[in-house]
Amino acid sequence: MNTSIPFISDRQIAEALDFRSVAAVLGEAFASLSEGGAAVHHRQRTDCRDLRLSTMGAVWAERGVAGVKVYPTVRGQFSFSILLFDLATNQPLAVLDGNEITRLRTAAVTALVASKAGPLRPRKLAVFGAGLQGRAQAEALSGWFDFEQIALVDPAGNPVWAETLAHKAGCSAAFTTAESAVRDADIVVTATRSATPVFDGAWLAPGAFVAAMGISAPKGRELDGTAMDRAGRIILEWMPQSLAEAGEVALWEGRSSTAPFVDLPQLYAGAAPWRPEVPGITVFKSVGVGLADVAVAQLAVSRILQREPALESALP
Ligand SMILES: NC(=O)c1ccc[n+]([C@@H]2O[C@H](COP(=O)([O-])OP(=O)(O)OC[C@H]3O[C@@H](n4cnc5c(N)ncnc54)[C@H](O)[C@@H]3O)[C@@H](O)[C@H]2O)c1
Repeated sequence: MNTSIPFISDRQIAEALDFRSVAAVLGEAFASLSEGGAAVHHRQRTDCRDLRLSTMGAVWAERGVAGVKVYPTVRGQFSFSILLFDLATNQPLAVLDGNEITRLRTAAVTALVASKAGPLRPRKLAVFGAGLQGRAQAEALSGWFDFEQIALVDPAGNPVWAETLAHKAGCSAAFTTAESAVRDADIVVTATRSATPVFDGAWLAPGAFVAAMGISAPKGRELDGTAMDRAGRIILEWMPQSLAEAGEVALWEGRSSTAPFVDLPQLYAGAAPWRPEVPGITVFKSVGVGLADVAVAQLAVSRILQREPALESALP
């Protein structure tokens, strides 16, 4: 029995990991899921009055680890922790703060999928929500692509952060209206806490890549039915959990049995090309799956506790 389980803090994780190394390990984990080397533990939510406890996790047999992320929701705020096990010894490897891992993996999966399935040379990025997740999404994507313009939408957005982002990204970045942000945008990200659509899907450019990563409950959505109707492809992280949790799917008025859903394990298995022959609007609906948390926790443990050299990212 391990009597002293190491603890890894958000600060240590922030120092050890970056969006690219996180995206690389996420790609490996979803590829492993497609080959049966990993399995996902569905999110479980338990409510009592206005309080909630949620758990999600995965077994990544190929890497010899399993883990669970657990978090209460109090007054709408989350507090994430992760417990990771070593399957070779059947002992706990570490307890990790989960806030930084959640921030990194949620933005990195958008960048990963946008780089493989989105427009080849995106010039304009639009981001809805400039809270914790929206800022991470803008920072990750602007490190990946050479944007000329970043349009931000958030009634509570901080213009000082927009200036810092413009400086780091080497392009213009400013708050604007929803319509002017979405029109002509190559990539649109929604990262708000809104339960109702944040823009009119008719405004989307014909080849836009849209990543909706806010609400992950079937009672609410950030994208309207028009955006979903216009999508030639709807990418999900992992079909069983995504179809159960995504409000964009549950509340979609025009959803048909031939809706163009594909998930990351299918794409990694080669069941469909990442970019369809006929380009159109691509929606990526992210709800967040436990495999991502376990994969990034494993990377953090290998970097911080086992002092492994940095992974070379194979990503563009
Ligand atoms: N997909 C995932 O894996 C994943 C992971 C973590 C969090 N989330 C979700 O991401 C969302 C955002 O989380 P957060 O921590 O950044 O929240 P936050 O409260 O820090 O930020 C949300 C921001 O959205 C803005 N906003 C609200 N309505 C808006 C609208 N209509 N248009 C533009 N901006 C609007 C708010 O002013 C706020 O600044 C939450 O719904 C959370 O559950 C998803």
